[in-house]
Amino acid sequence: MSSGTGLKGVVLDETRISLIDGDAGKLVYRGYNIHDLAHRASFEEVSYLLLYGALPTRTELSAFEGELKNSRAIPESVVEIIDRVKAAHPMDILRTAISAVVGLDENSHEAKAEVALPVGVRLISQVATVVATMHRLRNGLEPVTPRDDLSHAANFLYMMFGKEPAAEHAQIIDLDLVLHAEHSSNASAFAARVAAGTAADIGSCIVAAIATLKGPLHGGAAEAVQKTVEEIGDPQKAIDYIEERIKAGEKVMGFGHRVYKTDDPRGQELRGVARDLGNKMGENTWFQILQEIERAMEPYRSKGIYPNVDFYAGAVYSLLGIPEEQFIPMFAVGRMPGWVAHVLEQYEDNVLIRPLLEYTGPRHLRYKPIGERA
Ligand code: COA
Repeated sequence: MSSGTGLKGVVLDETRISLIDGDAGKLVYRGYNIHDLAHRASFEEVSYLLLYGALPTRTELSAFEGELKNSRAIPESVVEIIDRVKAAHPMDILRTAISAVVGLDENSHEAKAEVALPVGVRLISQVATVVATMHRLRNGLEPVTPRDDLSHAANFLYMMFGKEPAAEHAQIIDLDLVLHAEHSSNASAFAARVAAGTAADIGSCIVAAIATLKGPLHGGAAEAVQKTVEEIGDPQKAIDYIEERIKAGEKVMGFGHRVYKTDDPRGQELRGVARDLGNKMGENTWFQILQEIERAMEPYRSKGIYPNVDFYAGAVYSLLGIPEEQFIPMFAVGRMPGWVAHVLEQYEDNVLIRPLLEYTGPRHLRYKPIGERA
């Protein structure tokens, strides 16, 4: 049986949402370099850019922020559903809750941009509320009512921890969300586009994306990196640990990328944040372990294996007190605008996405009644 190609190198369609130059390590959202946006634009501004194709004016941004703020609350019945399934994997909880949110939204069911855009904007807000609410309920805490005087990132931390975050921490999460906001036809955005291609409503597309993000080869890598760091425990043990893993034929989580064959520009940003935050908090063992892992992986750079965005994300989250089980949901909070933009773009000039599989199984077997089978 062939190991498959995973559609490696296949160009599915044209897009105007983002560009990844995997050899140059460059990421561009709607024409703007990620490094520029990371340091200058808020998550709200970047969301607007991804959805509408241009940076907002002051008036447009303030109207958009207002729309996001007005959408932060989730129905009480969805809070009850989250409570019922709170023992499940956080991504299963998120998928179930968002399914309920869109199922209850009577105005969300038509597969066209005029309907999908406002639903998408609401979902950008509500995914954050669901993720914070599940954290509260899983830890035996009351959900926190969203505030409308805080930014998306600050309100998210407020809803998770029940107290207003330090401005610096909100800024770090804002940066992290900007870095995760969009990444072309990655597996989850592709899943969203496949669902949109069938003329399914945007809610179904987002649920498909959430389901696809769950796996360790996609959204689950940051959590896996953090587990590796904890297992290593001491920077001096990192090199031996990695060598053993590689010898055993295992992949080192947080390394490698289908498109980047050099340093991931999002990882570059988070590397600096993890280092500075660790130093400031007097907790730099994690960063040192990560640096040693990077050193151990240097020989594989010639094969195009470099750290990816997930390599430093976990350390940043942990330093901010965000538990491991919330790492993949955090990715979803950030990726929401990208998913919505892809669904809208797919609707624009829709073609059913339906590739072929080459059949390699038997062709001429004769049916045997059950009593005659060995
Ligand atoms: N550690 C060690 N070796 C790795 C590696 C890693 N993290 N990622 C890729 N490789 C090696 C493979 O073993 C393979 O080697 P081979 O040619 O000798 O068989 C080669 O690099 C190509 O890897 P492959 O898995 O075919 O590339 P891909 O494009 O399908 O994989 C990923 C991309 C992301 C799935 C892969 O790099 C991976 O599993 N990384 C770890 C998970 C991760 O961090 N995911 C988050 C992505 S943002």
